[in-house]
Amino acid sequence: MDKLHILQEKINQAKLGGGQNRIDSQHKKGKLTARERVELLMDEGSFEEIGMLVTHRSKDFGMEKEQYLGDGVVTGYGTVNGRLVYIFSQDFTVFGGSLSETHAEKICKIMDLAMQNGAPVIGLNDSGGARIQEGVVSLGGYADIFYKNVQASGVVPQLSAIMGPCAGGAVYSPAITDFILMVEHTSYMFVTGPNVVKTVTHETVTSEELGGAHTHASKSGVTHFACENEIACIEHIKQLLSYMPQNCEEDAPVYPYESGNEIRTALNDIIPANPNQPYDMKEVIAEIADADSFLEVHKDYAENIVVGFARIAGRSIGIVANQPASMAGVLDINSSKKGARFVRFCDAFNIPLLVLVDVPGFLPGTDQEWNGIITNGAKLLFALSEATVPKVTVITRKAYGGAYDVMNSKHIGADLNYAWPTAEIAVMGAKGAAEIIFKKEIADAEDHDAKWKEKELEYTDKFANPYGAAARGFIDEVILPDVTREKLIKAFKMLEHKVAKMPKKKHDNIPL
Ligand code: COA
Repeated sequence: MDKLHILQEKINQAKLGGGQNRIDSQHKKGKLTARERVELLMDEGSFEEIGMLVTHRSKDFGMEKEQYLGDGVVTGYGTVNGRLVYIFSQDFTVFGGSLSETHAEKICKIMDLAMQNGAPVIGLNDSGGARIQEGVVSLGGYADIFYKNVQASGVVPQLSAIMGPCAGGAVYSPAITDFILMVEHTSYMFVTGPNVVKTVTHETVTSEELGGAHTHASKSGVTHFACENEIACIEHIKQLLSYMPQNCEEDAPVYPYESGNEIRTALNDIIPANPNQPYDMKEVIAEIADADSFLEVHKDYAENIVVGFARIAGRSIGIVANQPASMAGVLDINSSKKGARFVRFCDAFNIPLLVLVDVPGFLPGTDQEWNGIITNGAKLLFALSEATVPKVTVITRKAYGGAYDVMNSKHIGADLNYAWPTAEIAVMGAKGAAEIIFKKEIADAEDHDAKWKEKELEYTDKFANPYGAAARGFIDEVILPDVTREKLIKAFKMLEHKVAKMPKKKHDNIPL
């Protein structure tokens, strides 16, 4: 065979991975192969493979006789919607996609390239974990990847899609990256699987219940997205990338936008007459953001806060919003963590922040206190305080107590703070406030309830409005709801070149 044919033979062999039978069995499980996934994600013809001919070095357990070109991971670079990305895609048909020394080296190589050239890294995970035949060498490979994930954190966006098993040590690379996407029914993530769980805690649980996409999207918050199939997952990756810059030195791409009438009259009718009645903050977001531009992150986890990306006049923004339709929009441990993590991503990658406020305070109770609402609530406060990107706030209704401070108040560095006339900026709700400060008068009154009501109204008149805060400049402008979008377009444009620096330090010490 001539030399040119030898190369073609090798390429053909590499493309077959672990062989046709294993490819068929992958398809039977409803899964695509590593290469099919790469093809789907990348712009047509843009993918350039690196390390196709790499093989493992193991000589134990007869491994020297079983060699597959590429060693269970397809790595390289290409473009998604015309923008450079680096990718690794684990090939379950080769030793179950397990991670060998060389498999890890291939991943590390593209991560180095990504960091040096300033482009996102996308990992498509489908792996039985550490290559059992290689022992500690494989564990070392994992640690090398973790270390690079940490180095790359905040330098280039890192996205992890879980498209099959991801167990044991394998979970920690995705965990360190910025976003995790899981595919429903065909992927799972856990530190220890159902068998170990059964032995140690005597719980009986399936893989899906323990670590499937639905579980991690709603119970643990480990995954940011649960996608109904692999194609939807890949579409989600593309969409997610569209809001992000290539690296921390750049801005996100600006999309074409035709300005027109920016008045949104529907906003005038969103707040119910009764302050205790809920409404859906996502309706507010839909009116404020460019049409259909909102991509919600962590949709099914800690629903009392809504976070996600959107565009306003074509520019990417990150939105953090209390959700009155879930637990009255109260802040608790999970919502604070969810909000804080999102804010830190946006700040790291120069994505301006819009905070929409309707918050009755922090959730009371032993469960919250004993699980550390103090430390966890501080995360959101810390994240918003340290963020130096443009930060704009709109208070739609309640901004009570410490939660007022936390939700991007002027005091923690917000650039522009707006309030609707329906805003209530106070230490607490009028009923509770009246009960405390007028306790004696209410107790002494002949008709306790009437007195209480009278004092409640007195407190409402004085504090359940935005004007006290506006008088002090804590609110820059009280605006009619229908002009919110117009105001925000102007505000973010004005803040486009904001320069703000934190004091010099090694790194901060966010309460973890
Ligand atoms: N190291 C080496 N080979 C592995 C492997 C690993 N960690 N995990 C899977 N494989 C191989 C299997 O031997 C099998 O090889 P074959 O095609 O030559 O038969 C192939 O990958 C597919 O695995 P299989 O078990 O048939 O697939 P499955 O879909 O039924 O199960 C797992 C998938 C991941 C649940 C199962 O393979 C497993 O439990 N693997 C070990 C997980 C582990 O403990 N990893 C180490 C700790 S991080």
